[in-house]
Amino acid sequence: MRKKALPALLFILSCSGSVFAQQNTGATDPIAQKVEALMAKMTLEEKIGQLNQYTSDRLATGPLTPNSSKYQEIKDGKVGSMLNVKGAKETRMIQEMAMQSRLKIPLLFGLDVIHGYRVTFPIPLAEAASWDLNAIELSARVAGKESAAAGVHWTFAPMVDIARDPRWGRVMEGAGEDTYLGSLIAKARVRGFQGKGLGNLDAIMACAKHFAAYGAAIAGRDYNTVDMSDRQLWETYLPPFKAAVDAGAATFMNSFNDLNGIPATGNAYLQRDILKDKWNYQGFVVSDWGSISEMVAHGFAKDNKDAARLAILAGSDMDMEGHAYLPNLVQLVQEKKIDVALINDAVRRILRKKFELGLFDDPYRFSNESREKKVLNAAENRKAAREVAEKSIVLLKNDNQLLPLSKSTKKIAVIGPLGKSSADMKGFWSVTWDNDHLVSLYEGLQNKLGKQTELLYSEGCGIKDTSRQHFAEAVATAKQADVVIMAVGEAFDMSGEAKSRSNIHLPGVQEELIKAVQATGKPVVVLVMAGRPLIFNWTADNANAILYTWWLGSEAGNAMADVLFGDYNPAGKLPMSFPRAEGQIPVFYASKSTGRPALDEKNTNYRSAYLDLPNSPRYAFGYGLSYSNFDFSDLKLNKSKLSQNETLQVSFTLKNTGKYAGEEVAQLYLQDVAASVTRPVKELKDFQKVFLKPGESKTISFTIDKEKLSFYDQKMTWGAEAGEFKLMIGNSSDHILLQDKFELVD
Ligand code: BGC
Repeated sequence: MRKKALPALLFILSCSGSVFAQQNTGATDPIAQKVEALMAKMTLEEKIGQLNQYTSDRLATGPLTPNSSKYQEIKDGKVGSMLNVKGAKETRMIQEMAMQSRLKIPLLFGLDVIHGYRVTFPIPLAEAASWDLNAIELSARVAGKESAAAGVHWTFAPMVDIARDPRWGRVMEGAGEDTYLGSLIAKARVRGFQGKGLGNLDAIMACAKHFAAYGAAIAGRDYNTVDMSDRQLWETYLPPFKAAVDAGAATFMNSFNDLNGIPATGNAYLQRDILKDKWNYQGFVVSDWGSISEMVAHGFAKDNKDAARLAILAGSDMDMEGHAYLPNLVQLVQEKKIDVALINDAVRRILRKKFELGLFDDPYRFSNESREKKVLNAAENRKAAREVAEKSIVLLKNDNQLLPLSKSTKKIAVIGPLGKSSADMKGFWSVTWDNDHLVSLYEGLQNKLGKQTELLYSEGCGIKDTSRQHFAEAVATAKQADVVIMAVGEAFDMSGEAKSRSNIHLPGVQEELIKAVQATGKPVVVLVMAGRPLIFNWTADNANAILYTWWLGSEAGNAMADVLFGDYNPAGKLPMSFPRAEGQIPVFYASKSTGRPALDEKNTNYRSAYLDLPNSPRYAFGYGLSYSNFDFSDLKLNKSKLSQNETLQVSFTLKNTGKYAGEEVAQLYLQDVAASVTRPVKELKDFQKVFLKPGESKTISFTIDKEKLSFYDQKMTWGAEAGEFKLMIGNSSDHILLQDKFELVD
């Protein structure tokens, strides 16, 4: 950790005409002029009020500190933002309180709009499986439109934490294990939320979180310590955040974890040196819920006041439910423990966003009930949710082309605890407690099928049940059917924040239920609905067909039915590796070779291998089948050597050789064969999702430039080194179909 000395930082800040003043108060910037004019009228107490954020009384998304004077504090100008306030009516009501304050500075309303507002979209990890940036942007766009129409100014999304440990419940909120894919998705989500830009009535502020490295919590336990090299931080964990900055993310959220001994919230290296200095970030940073005061529990701050001091020094601009800034910052300034320039900088950043949103022109502009009524749950929003849900489904297995099923099948049995569940389709982060309509699998099948098909149903067991009591009934139901569709997985609250699990096998006796049903000899299609990669080896070996559907949101059942009956040809690819056993975790594709790579699974002697398991995952990153088949051929490189300022054109032919029209995701991986720092065996560097009709073929091209060949060398300088590179193209990280080599020359 290269942390700059704080005294030096303080000195810079206390110089007249501080760096911040130069950055944000430019005479030609009309918003900066307005911010300065307002700040000139503000007392120190009012400024600190802008840095203070409370939750509403209706919803707590963290441990609640009772505060009966909250609303009076809003009227006194001591609150800058509220979270968990939503709806045109409620936001107007609370904003009216702020309008009673001396300077009438509007509040910002923030909310966790993680995958949809009223219409629920697939969980972010599911959407990442679409590898479809337009679809992901669309999902965030609809969420942005709906929440803006419900008075919300700001979503605490996207979560851009790279996550390689499926025990960690929050993998559901992110884009999975890969930095390249994760960075593109970060950008798409920011674009989606912020639309054509802040100030438009359908745009909300995005918030890239959790800065930084939260996804690497030791042992997959939420809020846990993170300890990693600077190389890994810069190479793997920071790029999606940089991508969010580049896409214009209005805000950042810091994180609960400590990083190499320093809590992220009190980490000046992260928030000042990297984010605000090196990346020249002009937005503001909100703490995570209570993360400022939690620095006391970390053993980093001696009390709440010390925590406030450390957080503001480190660049945390707003205190979310930490109750640390408001009671302590005035005194800290008076005692000269912090420079008022730090507070001015934070206030400037926050007020700028309020001006950009147009809240000073009309503090109620997002709180319009008739607009809210029109926009929420609009037919086009649901249509988008169905499309994105279809794209998020991953076909893991399809023996003997069991799928798609025929719509004239006479009797279909739906068996399993998630067959009629709608609540679980919502996933963990769902903000609409006034229910949107969620379509269960069973209902989706009813919608799809005509009178000629009889739909049977048996729950078989509950999600977490340990009893086999209802197996006999499920087996009897299966026996009557021509085909069985099994709906298994996790309940909505088994993956999410504070939902780490050490055992990520299919919960309860569900896999036993699959075995019992499979023993009937009927064709069995298993649908796994979950918020994380689960382990289900018996099913993977024995079921006829498997679809990983995650939690798909409002249109879940319709989307599943579309895929089951071939109205949509699945094209999803896993954004995270699926382990064979918890003992393999973390298992991810972009690993290093080691000096003794596991060459042969049977010969583990003196090899980097397990005695009892292969190193490979059950399902690899990038894996996913289609009802069609795609042939990769005719790889061409336009040169075998390139210099640093040249590009290399790669092309090949992709052909749909199957019976169904559909999409394939062609994936380009590279390896720097020998470098001054060991490099992963492969890294995703590009991909294309291509639609082809049966028999159709297309030439697919990729361009390789220096950037794609670069990494941090021994001195942590970003660049590409001369030498040989291996180029691999395939339909999964473990299924390379074309390969070649080329050389980078000085
Ligand atoms: C989570 C954040 C979330 C915040 C507000 C925290 O516990 O870590 O991701 O945005 O609560 O709900």
